[in-house]
Parts: sequence; structure tokens; C-alpha cells
Amino acid sequence: MNYRHHFHAGNAGDVLKHLVLATIIERLEAKPAPITVIDSHAGAGLYELDPEGGEWQEGIGRLLDHEPATWPPVCAAYATALAGDALLYPGSPLVALRLLREQDRVIACETVAPVSDALKDALARDPRAAVHRRDGWSALRAFLPVKTGRSIVLIDPPFEAADDFEQLAAHLIEAAKRASTAILLGWYPVKGRRAADRLHETLRVSGVSRILAVELLTQPDHDPGRFAGSGLIVIRPPWRLDEDLARDLPTLVDLMGYRATGSARVEWLAGEVVED
Ligand SMILES: C[S@@+](CC[C@H](N)C(=O)[O-])C[C@H]1O[C@@H](n2cnc3c(N)ncnc32)[C@H](O)[C@@H]1O
Repeated sequence: MNYRHHFHAGNAGDVLKHLVLATIIERLEAKPAPITVIDSHAGAGLYELDPEGGEWQEGIGRLLDHEPATWPPVCAAYATALAGDALLYPGSPLVALRLLREQDRVIACETVAPVSDALKDALARDPRAAVHRRDGWSALRAFLPVKTGRSIVLIDPPFEAADDFEQLAAHLIEAAKRASTAILLGWYPVKGRRAADRLHETLRVSGVSRILAVELLTQPDHDPGRFAGSGLIVIRPPWRLDEDLARDLPTLVDLMGYRATGSARVEWLAGEVVED
């Protein structure tokens, strides 16, 4: 296992993932019912960005060149989660904890020992957070469905293994069926269209309804050898998240300086039919 999210922290993929996670948490907080965020591949929780350079400069760095007040409205909760030292970037469990309330909690799984130790430190032993050094895939079975309140599940594997796309599809589908009201998020890289389109097709015919695919691309996606950006599958998105993202992501692409090469995409893979 060579993956270290440290090198990728704050890149454009993190921007998409964390802004959607933050927005969903904010929407669910309209009701007092407790929220559980399950983060199956949680990472270290807090990342010191290198002022000399790194992927963050092509992601959050470009956004921070502009005052948060000028960011499009769908970034509001994300901006709240980022408040503080710009060179200390919060990972997904910390983005969640910074927005969650007293009655909410985070279950974070991370297999790599030093990373899960760093995660415990980053979460500062917050009583709302539980860090598990365990396999995130099997954790989905262990922790879903949650017993009370609403749940948000983030599946964010490192995409080092050859079958990560297949694993992502299979676990999203299984978790959606196991937890019939959970909101599920699955992140994937876009390098050419082949793997992403295959993932979309698998989900389209899965029998799970209300599946949205959201992509933020900084480069054209027709070249299979080139990393173009990333996508997020959102199963059972809150009401109007699709419209808000479709309205604001193109503005975000412009604001980040990717108008010439990048694009945004918001597409329903399976209908907005409410499951019963
Ligand atoms: C993309 S990073 C996570 C980033 C984090 N979700 C965030 O947004 O800040 C993927 C993480 O998964 C961890 N990992 C790899 N295999 C795992 C597994 N089977 N279960 C749990 N964590 C795993 C890696 O060590 C790495 O820290």
C-alpha cells in the first residue's frame, strides 16, 4: 500500500468530494434527527499543505485566490468547514465534524496504522467521533443500517487496486439496499471515459433508484492516458442538490480558472422515483 492522501490533499477531487459532503450535512441539519457519517476510507483527517507546491495549488489553492464570499452558493457549508489556517486542510472526517452538531457522530475507518493514529490526533478525541483501524469495505456491512436518525456514507478508496471501480459499484449497491434511507457518496477518478462510464452503467441497471453522478473536470476527458478530474456518485441526494450543483459547478470551474479546459457534469443515472 503506497497511497498517501497527503500528496493529494486539497486537490480538485477533494474540493468536489468535500463540498458535496458539506452541503449534504448542512441540508440534513434542517431537521433535529441525529446524523451519522460513516467514512469507510477516512485518511489522516488533517493535512499540512506544502506552501512550496503540491496538488492543492490546482484545487483549493485556486479557490482560495478568491474571497469565500464570492464563491457560488453551493460552496457555503464547505467554506465554513475550511475556516481557519489555509495551509491546514481538513480531510473528510474533519469536514464532517466541523459541521456536525452535538447529537451527530462520525464513524471513520482507516487501515494504515500511522494514518489512523494521525486521524485520532486530528479528531482530537472528539467524543462524537469513533476511529476504527479496520477494512472500510467490510465496515459498511458492520455499521449499516444505522439504528437511529439519518446516515451519510462516504466511500473514498485510494484507487490503487485494479478492481476498485468494481468494488465501489458493488459496495454502493449493496449498502444502498442494506440501508434504504442512507445517503451514499462514492468518489472515483476520471481518466478517459471508459471506467467511469462502466461504473455509471452498472449503477443504472442496479435496481437502486435516485442515483446522481456529479463530475468536476479540470481537463478534457477523451484521453484515456490523462487524468481529467473526478466524479462523485450520490445515491438519494437531498432535494434540489442536483439543481444547485448544476447551477453552481460551472461557476466553480470558471472561478478556479479551468474555463478553457474543464467542465462540470450533473446527471441522473437512475430516476428520481422515491423508493418504498
Ligand atoms: C482517498 S484516501 C481518503 C481521503 C479522505 N476520505 C478524505 O477525503 O479526506 C483513501 C484512504 O483509504 C485508506 N485505505 C486503503 N485501503 C483501505 C481499506 N481497505 N479500508 C479502509 N481504509 C483504507 C488509505 O490508507 C487512504 O488513507
